[in-house]
Amino acid sequence: MKEVIDKGNIPRHIAIIMDGNGRWAQKKGAMRIFGHRNAMAAVRDAIEGSAELGVDYITLYAFSTENWSRPKEEVDALMGILVEAITDEVPTMMKNNIKLETIGDIDSLPDSCIKHLKMGKAKTKDNTGMTVVLALSYSGRWEIEKAVQKIVKKVVSGELSAEAINQELIGAHLNTANIPDPELLIRTSGEIRISNFMLWQLAYTELYFTEVLWPDFRKKDLHEAILAFQKRERRFGKTGAQTKSSN
Ligand code: IPE
Ligand code: IPE
Ligand code: MG
Repeated sequence: MKEVIDKGNIPRHIAIIMDGNGRWAQKKGAMRIFGHRNAMAAVRDAIEGSAELGVDYITLYAFSTENWSRPKEEVDALMGILVEAITDEVPTMMKNNIKLETIGDIDSLPDSCIKHLKMGKAKTKDNTGMTVVLALSYSGRWEIEKAVQKIVKKVVSGELSAEAINQELIGAHLNTANIPDPELLIRTSGEIRISNFMLWQLAYTELYFTEVLWPDFRKKDLHEAILAFQKRERRFGKTGAQTKSSN
């Protein structure tokens, strides 16, 4: 399948809502946490598969603002898995010239997570290949709320005029300030919703939903999503005829 992918039309930024770990485990008669523990193979395939095709950014929704409401044991287990994953993956990222970034309320995470994330980001900061963005304690509305607060402070202090507020300025105050909007969003597990993910950035993103549960996601599933993306006509409000003539 990889061979039929058009190398001239690869999304520059792919965002993934990695969903279905709990159901994957429950289907096997196991605890939900077992699903989270088995998610790393999918994460690795998504990263490796994207890097092989020349994708510049991959954003992985790993923990939402709303996920704090889950049972404490599950939240604790997820945070532990996060620390293990960073420890295990940073050497591979170094080898593959991959940079680690985060979006979300990182300060709200346990100290050990903050420490490992800081270490991983510092170590990989000069890598020039693909960037992996982990969305942790992240939600789109939280991010917009924070951006509004920052902008209003600047207006109140006189650093900015109200008229200077435009889409570009708002974008520059989001966590994703230096990251282009995703061209493709993938959500696994059959749920057809955004769940508060990248609300501003997804304005013109192509959405792709698959029934595959996240722990089962492999390179072939990524390739399928990219092929589906390549069949879409991205019109950005124009007519089909206009879109075709500009190609
Ligand atoms: C996604 O899988 C991982 C996180 C949200 C942290 P879920 O844990 O949501 O799995 P399901 O949707 O309950 O199957
Ligand atoms: C979205 O999945 C968040 C992540 C994948 C991190 P959820 O499982 O939390 O979403 P809902 O609750 O089904 O919308
Ligand atoms: Mg879920």
